[in-house]
Amino acid sequence: MNWLPRPADGTAWVAPSLLSADFANLGPDIADLTAHGADLLHLDVMDAHFVPNLTFGPFICGAIRRLSDLPLDAHLMMTRPHDYLESFAKSGVDGLTIHVECDAPIAETLARIGDLGMKRGISLNPGTPIDSLYPYLNQVDLILVMTVQPGFGGQSFNPVGVEKIADLAARRAAGEGDFLINVDGGINDETGRLCRQAGADILVSGSWLCKAADRSAAVRALRGPG
Ligand code: DX5
Ligand code: ZN
Repeated sequence: MNWLPRPADGTAWVAPSLLSADFANLGPDIADLTAHGADLLHLDVMDAHFVPNLTFGPFICGAIRRLSDLPLDAHLMMTRPHDYLESFAKSGVDGLTIHVECDAPIAETLARIGDLGMKRGISLNPGTPIDSLYPYLNQVDLILVMTVQPGFGGQSFNPVGVEKIADLAARRAAGEGDFLINVDGGINDETGRLCRQAGADILVSGSWLCKAADRSAAVRALRGPG
């Protein structure tokens, strides 16, 4: 397993969402994102049920594993992620993030993810209240705050996530759990700064980062001072 510690104060790790990468040219595109400073890779798994879109599953995650040594964080937008945990573990991803809104027994599924040797992540949609995560704060390594309705790249940032990030950071500072705070959806230099200042540790960026004319500058802008 390959994972990241908390970033230096005031900075964030940068996670390109491969949804916006060039899948017809994925090896070179991942190498390019890596050369320009990506810290980990965000893999958007969509099942055409939890969200309307359909992307890829463990088989492609395994292929991506062979293309990169960076930590791989799989964001499972799936109704039944608990049916696929072993397959994802075999694919070689380092972290699995399930949605609190899915049909899985949440606590058992998080425990199983940990038992399989992966980091345990939980996510929530923009419309889901933050207190839905409170029962799990001590059972996760990663919390993914969605700032768009999941399903598609290229949507506009919903600022409801900023307050959620600040709430989670305050709870963690008060000793509730020890997790990284990840944010996903509509992240660019400006929205990324807001999230970083609220306490986000990992900024996921799809379209803005992958399509930037200068990916190094985009990564630096997301990472922040330090
Ligand atoms: C949305 C995905 C995101 C998406 C982000 O369902 O979870 O990871 O790729 O893309 P942007 O940064 O374009 O909003
Ligand atoms: Zn995502």
